[in-house]
This record gives sequence, structure tokens and C-alpha cells, in this order.
Amino acid sequence: MRKIAVLTSGGDAPGMNAAIRAVVRSGIAKGWEVYGVKNGYSGLLAGNFIHLGPRDVGGIMQRGGTMLGSARSLEFKTDAGQKKAIRNLNSMGIEGLIVIGGNGSQTGSFKLFESGFPVVGVASTIDNDLYGSEITIGVDTALNIALEAVDRLKITASSHQRAFLLEVMGRDCGYLALMTALAGGAEAVIIPEVPTKPEEIAKQIEEAYEKGKAHAIVIVAEGAEYNAEKLSNYFKDHHETLGFDLRVAILGHIQRGGDPSAYDRLLASRLGSGAVEAMANGIYGVLTGWIQSKITYTPLAEVVANKKTLDKSLIELAAILD
Ligand code: ADP
Ligand code: F6P
Repeated sequence: MRKIAVLTSGGDAPGMNAAIRAVVRSGIAKGWEVYGVKNGYSGLLAGNFIHLGPRDVGGIMQRGGTMLGSARSLEFKTDAGQKKAIRNLNSMGIEGLIVIGGNGSQTGSFKLFESGFPVVGVASTIDNDLYGSEITIGVDTALNIALEAVDRLKITASSHQRAFLLEVMGRDCGYLALMTALAGGAEAVIIPEVPTKPEEIAKQIEEAYEKGKAHAIVIVAEGAEYNAEKLSNYFKDHHETLGFDLRVAILGHIQRGGDPSAYDRLLASRLGSGAVEAMANGIYGVLTGWIQSKITYTPLAEVVANKKTLDKSLIELAAILD
């Protein structure tokens, strides 16, 4: 009987549980034995494997987070760490590993593949910054949580004619911020990809008031040069001359902790079972992703060598529609 293992790594994303469930049940349907690795690559180094049957993954699909746990492991980044991980997989008799995670995690899975271990990745991160999948597991839920925050801020902002800044996640990528601004009708957006000075934001807020708006909402990605902290300081220092305040709300990890939306459950179910299909067909060293409404398999070599780009025309659209 074939033995495979699955792990979740990096930042948890709503829908990871649905992906684990899909891997376990699709694998068992093929007559395979499936193991879960606890806490991502850290668990791989600690030899922390658990046997998973169909009932072990019952009742998890509707929950955010990951029942296997996730981690960021520095040791795994080293050659010695990767060798140890492969030794542990081999000593368990594991013949294939499915890695559910984002950019860093797939860089790690590529390292295992380059060292000769059969690996298949599943595209999962709320940042949506992974090359090889138009959308990744967790994005839809995180976006909806951010939108709920914008809608709520607008209510209180309008009552007081206030300007608010909402910081959303996105270390290197402004996807979440831009989509939140577009779908939430924000007056301005600041993302790492487009350097924006605080003076420009102040001007956009002034213009919103001049247009007769009762509020101004600015969305900023945490990775932007002028993030919530720096902008807040700028607006405090210039309060007198500008004549208005900028109140700040930081969404942080609240955004990652929601129960997965229907979209994320469906995407995760398809990608999880797609990863098992790849293994059944002897396809390894690929990222299971979603492009043009189809499951796709992009070589991990391509995934790690390329950066996903943001559709900048959407920045103009957000400006027109605000
Ligand atoms: P994400 O997968 O969400 O982008 P991280 O960037 O934190 O999250 O990566 C998750 C884990 O993947 C890291 O803690 C590390 O163990 C592993 N990893 C990241 N980058 C590399 C790398 N260059 N080589 C090997 N492993 C890596
Ligand atoms: O990669 C997903 C992500 O949520 C980023 O948007 C964010 O910068 C980072 O993880 C936060 O990491 P941690 O949970 O380790 O603080």
C-alpha cells in the first residue's frame, strides 16, 4: 500500500482544513494510507506524524486555521534540516508529501523535491502572492473579513465626518489591500508595489471631503513603506495644518482567523484532491493551483523563480470608483 503525508506550513489560511480533508479522503479512496505531519516543517524535523483516517478529518471543513498546526521553521531552511526531514519521511516509509502553504512553504517543498523527495504543493495563503495560481486558499475569506471591517468603519466614520485608516495584511504584496479598497469603496489605497507619500494621501482625503463625502477611508497594506504607524505619526504631526485627524484601525491576525467561505471550501477541496491526482499520475515537483477555473500543475521551479504581479489597472479603477 502506498503511504503519503500532508502538512500545512507558513501563515495559516481559512480553508486549509478543507484541503487536508480532501487529501486524506481522496488518498484513502485510492487505497492509500495517509499521515498528517503536525506543525509544518517543524513537525517534519521532530518526526511528528499522525495516522489520519476518514473520521479524523470529519467536522473540520467549516473551521478556520489548520487541525495539523502550522509553523515557521528556521532549521528547515538549512541543508542539514532538509536532509533530516527526508530521513524522517523515509524512516516512516512515506512515498510522497503534500505541502499546503504559500511562497516560503513552496520554496521549502521545492528544496525537498530537488533533493529527490516526491513532493506536490497546494497553493494556500491569504496574501494571494503565489505564482502558479490565480487565487489561493484563504484569500476569499480574508477579503470578506476585511470588507466587513470597512463597512463597519464607514458607519462610524460617516457619523463623525472622520477619516480612517485600515491596515490589512500583506507583507510583500498589496493584493488584499487593493481588493479591499475596490470592493469596499475606499477613498485611497497604499500598497508595497506603488510607493505613495503621506502628502498624496492627505490630498486624497481632502478631495473626498471636497466632493461632499461624510467620511474618508484609506486602506494600507502592512508591507507598504508608509504603513499604519508611519502614516498615523505623519497625520498627528500635521493635524493643525490639515484640519483633520486620521484614526487608525489595524486588522492584523483577525483577518486570518475566520471560518472559511463557501469559495475557500470549494477551492481547497478541489486543490487538495487535485494534489492526490497528481501523485496518482506520478506527477511531482509541481504546485497544484487554480488558473482560468481549472486545476493546474505548475513546476515548483517556475513557481519559486517567478513573482506574481498585481493588475495595476485595478488601482486606477479604485480611484475612478471611489
Ligand atoms: P508562507 O509559506 O506562508 O509564505 P513562510 O515564508 O514563513 O510562509 O515560509 C514557511 C516556512 O517554509 C518557513 O518557516 C521555512 O521553514 C520554509 N521556508 C521558507 N523559505 C525557505 C527557503 N528558502 N528554503 C527552505 N525552506 C524555506
Ligand atoms: O503570509 C501570510 C501572512 O498573514 C502575511 O500577510 C503576514 O505578513 C504574515 O503572514 C504574518 O505572519 P505571522 O502570523 O507569523 O505574524
